[in-house]
Amino acid sequence: MKTIVVTGGAGFLGSHLCEYLVEKGDSVFCIDNLFTGNVKNIEHLIDNPNFKFIEHDIIEPIFFDDIKIDQIYNLACPASPIQYQINPVRTVKANTIGVINVLGIAKKHGARILQASTSEVYGDPLEHPQKESYRGNVNTIGERACYDEGKRVAETLFFDYHREHGVEIRVARIFNTYGPRMYENDGRVVSNFIVQALKNTPITIYGDGKQTRSFCYVDDLIEGLYKLMNKKDFTGPVNLGNPGEFTMLELAEKIISITSSKSEFIFKELPQDDPKKRKPDISLAKKVLNWEPKVNLETGLKKTIDYFSKIVK
Ligand SMILES: NC(=O)c1ccc[n+]([C@@H]2O[C@H](COP(=O)([O-])OP(=O)(O)OC[C@H]3O[C@@H](n4cnc5c(N)ncnc54)[C@H](O)[C@@H]3O)[C@@H](O)[C@H]2O)c1
Repeated sequence: MKTIVVTGGAGFLGSHLCEYLVEKGDSVFCIDNLFTGNVKNIEHLIDNPNFKFIEHDIIEPIFFDDIKIDQIYNLACPASPIQYQINPVRTVKANTIGVINVLGIAKKHGARILQASTSEVYGDPLEHPQKESYRGNVNTIGERACYDEGKRVAETLFFDYHREHGVEIRVARIFNTYGPRMYENDGRVVSNFIVQALKNTPITIYGDGKQTRSFCYVDDLIEGLYKLMNKKDFTGPVNLGNPGEFTMLELAEKIISITSSKSEFIFKELPQDDPKKRKPDISLAKKVLNWEPKVNLETGLKKTIDYFSKIVK
């Protein structure tokens, strides 16, 4: 049994990760400032003696003086453009001051620490699909930079703590992941389309809808994070995502078909710096972690739609 800290543990991915670890028999401390997270996501874990929720912002230091921490998963950072742009300076702080604080815990406890990095470190990529060796095409001064550059400097900090202090690090570059407990109104494409389809309101397509994304179902991603954390002598960075590539129009059509929705499409201008293509090359994850996604888009969408159909009024 390990003692594990999950920052951002009340969020979409974090809550699934906490659940997965508790089910494996580990003892989990979930830290979250509830900015985008919600206690509802973890309420089924609250009474479990192996789970403890601590409301805390990682921008402020936190010390675990009386327990020994074995592993830390750092997920604390708003992930959707609408949320991370509400207070861009705080987004940068979470990825710099916050990351330094969390790396400090790892250093003090000799704990292994995993960073939830992102495909956004590749920006609007000029290489397709994206391999880990690709250094990216990011606009340093755009509206998305607080997140993209924040996540890039977080990777830098991880590797500096590794080189300077011998901290055992793991860096996962997560590509679009979807599933139950995504938020209804945070502008991410899968939840947006599903909610619009269930309400039979127009589906908003940005640009001409021919830009592509790849979508990984949450269960696959959590398994990938776990495998990475527990892999010996491998820091990453490693891409975790589903290489299946779909245009926004294809995604919308699938969702309309599953929900039997009457929604029509409306087209809006593409937001600034919105990547035109996104698809992970996961050969490294396959080779080193023996990991690849198992859930196809149709199956994952059905599970997600099932979740949303219970909460969308
Ligand atoms: N879901 C994806 O497709 C995806 C893709 C790439 C990377 N990621 C990364 O994975 C992580 C989790 O993403 P998610 O989709 O679950 O998003 P989310 O917004 O649901 O989760 C983030 C969680 O972190 C918490 N948080 C934010 N700032 C904090 C702070 N300063 N201190 C403590 N808690 C804080 C939020 O309240 C929330 O519970 C993020 O770091 C995100 O960048 C997610």
